[in-house]
Amino acid sequence: MAVVISVANQKGGVGKTTLTMNLAYALSSMGRRVLVVDIDPQFNLTFGLIGMDVLQHGDSNVGTLMTRESDIDNTIVEVRENLHLVPSHLNLSAKEIEIINTYNRERRLEKALLPVLPDYDYVLIDNPPSMGIFLVNSLTASDYVLIPLELSYFGVIGMQLMFNLMRMIRQETNENLKLLGLVPNKFTRQTKVPKMRLKELKETYPDAPILTTIPKAIALEKAQSQGVSIFEFEGDGRAAKAFSKLAREVVELVEG
Ligand SMILES: Nc1ncnc2c1ncn2[C@@H]1O[C@H](COP(=O)(O)OP(=O)(O)OP(=O)(O)O)[C@@H](O)[C@H]1O
Ligand SMILES: [Mg+2]
Repeated sequence: MAVVISVANQKGGVGKTTLTMNLAYALSSMGRRVLVVDIDPQFNLTFGLIGMDVLQHGDSNVGTLMTRESDIDNTIVEVRENLHLVPSHLNLSAKEIEIINTYNRERRLEKALLPVLPDYDYVLIDNPPSMGIFLVNSLTASDYVLIPLELSYFGVIGMQLMFNLMRMIRQETNENLKLLGLVPNKFTRQTKVPKMRLKELKETYPDAPILTTIPKAIALEKAQSQGVSIFEFEGDGRAAKAFSKLAREVVELVEG
């Protein structure tokens, strides 16, 4: 039975899509059956995984799944062995208003995923950098939240927003939602600031598990622009090693 993990942060550009893609790839390489769900209207993850094929999914994407215009079996795309995708699409933002006006609007994704949970070990959801019906659906459908963040002043302060949102979700739609951990991203030793912020992060949120730190690496940006994972781009580099370590840590935390 799949464990559902939302990769979320209301702040933009912190590495949600990068984390979802590379963690999914690492977990699938470890033999886990992984379904990734792209619920971001920017469809960066979908483009990263299937490129221009994104255009073919106008009638079968996460938006049509939520409005029940497509069913889950016809919406899932096989990317590679053990790695499947529920794509996003250009038309997703136009669906938002439609979903807001439907019955049971916060549980549309949860209900749609239910029949395929036995087919996977992990469902990873890549979220948009905004608080809205898509993020609420995602957190409502999830067992855990994984939060990438940048070690900047606002990056650390911004965690409070995420914790408030999680509290609200626990009260309203999903009392079992848990924090899997924070993933400090784009870490560099070129200045002392990130190290200082990491210390602040630990002091400010002593109860939040802080997982493997991901280094700042141009290779990650290049891999993303070429639509490949870091493992395919530079499998023996620092960034790939960090993502492998993170995947082992996630498996340990989730599977015990
Ligand atoms: N560790 C890293 N080192 C270098 N560049 C990185 C790293 N992580 C992410 N990036 C780059 O930072 C940019 C933003 O990353 P990404 O798209 O994963 O963020 P996001 O949180 O999904 O953004 P959005 O909020 O827009 O969805 C991308 O160009 C990505 O390649
Ligand atoms: Mg993104």
